[in-house]
Amino acid sequence: MHSALELDDLRVHHATAAGPLKAVDGVTLSVAPGETVGLVGESGCGKSTLARCVVGLNTPTGGSVRLGGSEIAAGGRDRVAWARMVQMIFQDPMGSLNPRLTTRHTIELPLRVHGIGSKNERLERVLRLMEQVGLGPHLLDRYPHELSGGQRQRVSIARALALEPALLVCDEIVSALDVSVQAQVLNLLTDLQSKLGIAFLFISHDLSVVRYVSDRIAVMYLGRIVEEGDSESVWNHSRHPYTQALIASIPERARDEKAQRLQLSGDLPSPVNPPSGCSFRTRCPYARPLCAEVRPELKSDGLPHSVACHFVAEIPELAARPEYAEA
Ligand SMILES: Nc1ncnc2c1ncn2[C@@H]1O[C@H](COP(=O)(O)OP(=O)(O)O)[C@@H](O)[C@H]1O
Ligand code: SF4
Ligand SMILES: [Mg+2]
Repeated sequence: MHSALELDDLRVHHATAAGPLKAVDGVTLSVAPGETVGLVGESGCGKSTLARCVVGLNTPTGGSVRLGGSEIAAGGRDRVAWARMVQMIFQDPMGSLNPRLTTRHTIELPLRVHGIGSKNERLERVLRLMEQVGLGPHLLDRYPHELSGGQRQRVSIARALALEPALLVCDEIVSALDVSVQAQVLNLLTDLQSKLGIAFLFISHDLSVVRYVSDRIAVMYLGRIVEEGDSESVWNHSRHPYTQALIASIPERARDEKAQRLQLSGDLPSPVNPPSGCSFRTRCPYARPLCAEVRPELKSDGLPHSVACHFVAEIPELAARPEYAEA
């Protein structure tokens, strides 16, 4: 079976006055049918740019994007087939919902655009989608401003599901919601995934959120993946110092042994002028001269997840713990 999504050496270099800005700089990543892959990294590391390439809103400057086994190219494609391969949900439902459309018309729109069903069949489908995302039928004729933030995000999800896509790209979809509402929306996603078998590319700057929904996690830093693999393995046995710092910054983990030394210092360097060699070296407590010379590639060394760091095997804090090496 084809992957729902395959990115091969994806690059997006934006032209800026200061020179090319390497927002995405060589990402290879796949999402299997029905799988949830979480993409995490601090703001500005290139997550949204990557997401926009997947749904065709940004054109890659290098590499390729394949959906359901076929490479996407601008123009000339079957729009229904395309819409059924991938849909995207954004952070701000207020901004992505048309304020003049009711819940019913918002969710119905993709069906109408693609000429699917009679008026009555579409209404039935809208009501079924609303039920699937936990919206009562009394919300059918409400406008976005008459709904709560959580309800609006559920409308966005129902609209994205209308054409039964194989892949849903979710970009920071709970970041603007209250913590209690976040949990409800995340539960809805995991529920939908098990019922509908949809693949998700789930993007967030918050590793604790990503971990909650993901089968696999990819950690991104300055346009590249620095650690990638099984979700629990990355969470419990992170080996890249950047992932360790992200975990150390999560409040319930902040008192862990290693946390103090691992606090991230300094800002994200400019993607116009990234550091040579390992792009994390300017913030890495373990950096050595080689790190400025040679860029580390992602390697698994036979372990359940891959890391891009020259010294994972040598620096005790980064080395696999014995219980992990045996796993
Ligand atoms: N259209 C654009 N032109 C120039 N730079 C851009 C453009 N879009 C994004 N960027 C830059 O690309 C980098 C990655 O941005 P983005 O993908 O939005 O990151 P994230 O979603 O992880 O916060 C940032 O430095 C951002 O300023
Ligand atoms: S390659 Fe060097 S700078 Fe990069 S993460 Fe590893 S030790 Fe740190
Ligand atoms: Mg973003």
